[in-house]
Amino acid sequence: KPNPVHVAVTGGAGQVGYALLFRIASGQVFGPDVPIVLRLLEVTPALKALEGVAMELSDGAFPALTDVVLTDKPAEAFDGASWALLLGASPRKDGMERGDLLAANGALFGPQGQAIGQHAASDIRTIVVGNPCNTNAMIAAANAPDVPADRWFAMTRLDENRAKSQLAAKSGTPVGEVSNLAIWGNHSATQYPDFANARIGGRPVPEVITDDAWLNGEFISSVQKRGAAIIAARGLSSAASAANAVIDNVRSLNAGTPAGDWTSVGVQSRGEYGVPEGLFFSYPVVAKSDGTWTVQEGLQHDERAADRLRVTIAELEEERAAVRHLLG
Ligand code: NAI
Repeated sequence: KPNPVHVAVTGGAGQVGYALLFRIASGQVFGPDVPIVLRLLEVTPALKALEGVAMELSDGAFPALTDVVLTDKPAEAFDGASWALLLGASPRKDGMERGDLLAANGALFGPQGQAIGQHAASDIRTIVVGNPCNTNAMIAAANAPDVPADRWFAMTRLDENRAKSQLAAKSGTPVGEVSNLAIWGNHSATQYPDFANARIGGRPVPEVITDDAWLNGEFISSVQKRGAAIIAARGLSSAASAANAVIDNVRSLNAGTPAGDWTSVGVQSRGEYGVPEGLFFSYPVVAKSDGTWTVQEGLQHDERAADRLRVTIAELEEERAAVRHLLG
């Protein structure tokens, strides 16, 4: 039997956690034969609810799940972890501005980044899901200078999946036919879901969907605002689809992206496509099964796309300015 993979999950008693943990335990992420240790971090008042989740994990009788650690101490949660999935944060409520979220959540991610740097396994990879995830990832990474920069990710896979579903529905094509869909920029309403470089059945999307007004209008805005639409409909932010995206994200980074395709994920910019260095920016990322990845080079943006990139860059720069005191 291989050694167990230690997976740290913060906010394990929350709604995304509830939809995620059972799927990890069932072997859907790392394979049915890879033993898993779940290391769950919660704030102290939520430990009781977390115990309830652990009881249900036990009642799942998952053969791959060898241990579950419950704690309110980051050092213990990240000890020996190869993956850190940072869900823990306060979710956006109806009417809440991103600025409020920055203030509430920014301060959590410095200490968690430090604990990852000090206690995680040498192969640690961290995906930040808790919003605002790009800037939270920047804070966590800045507080763990010994962890290589290419091990930190901010999740935009849910946006990618949403965009693919919209394109599939509009073109009457199975969603599995939609590929090369990149979300550029921030996981927020300024993101740019790049239909122009995406493909349906291997053909450029604008060749298959010739309705340019829809692509440049309703398509983009429906992807950008999908999170708010789910809150309006459900009264709660998306959780099961978010957990599903976490699983897709880990699997892509672990197994690699299919030949010729890429996935969307926020990574620390080294200036690719004119994005200021250091911002966590969602790019088309080509991942290999050895854990390395590169930003896909050479994609073209027309003027409208370039304008959209400027908007999302400006928003990320504003967020960085607002949390500069947390960047170490
Ligand atoms: P939730 O409120 O149901 O759960 C969050 C959990 O985090 C709570 O149990 C809370 O006690 C815990 N928590 C808070 N501070 C913590 C800390 N310092 N350490 C450990 N745990 C802590 O929220 P939900 O719906 O599960 O969402 C989690 C986060 O994910 C939110 O920030 C939400 O905005 C974000 N999200 C991001 C998505 C993305 O696409 N990037 C999609 C959906 C949600």
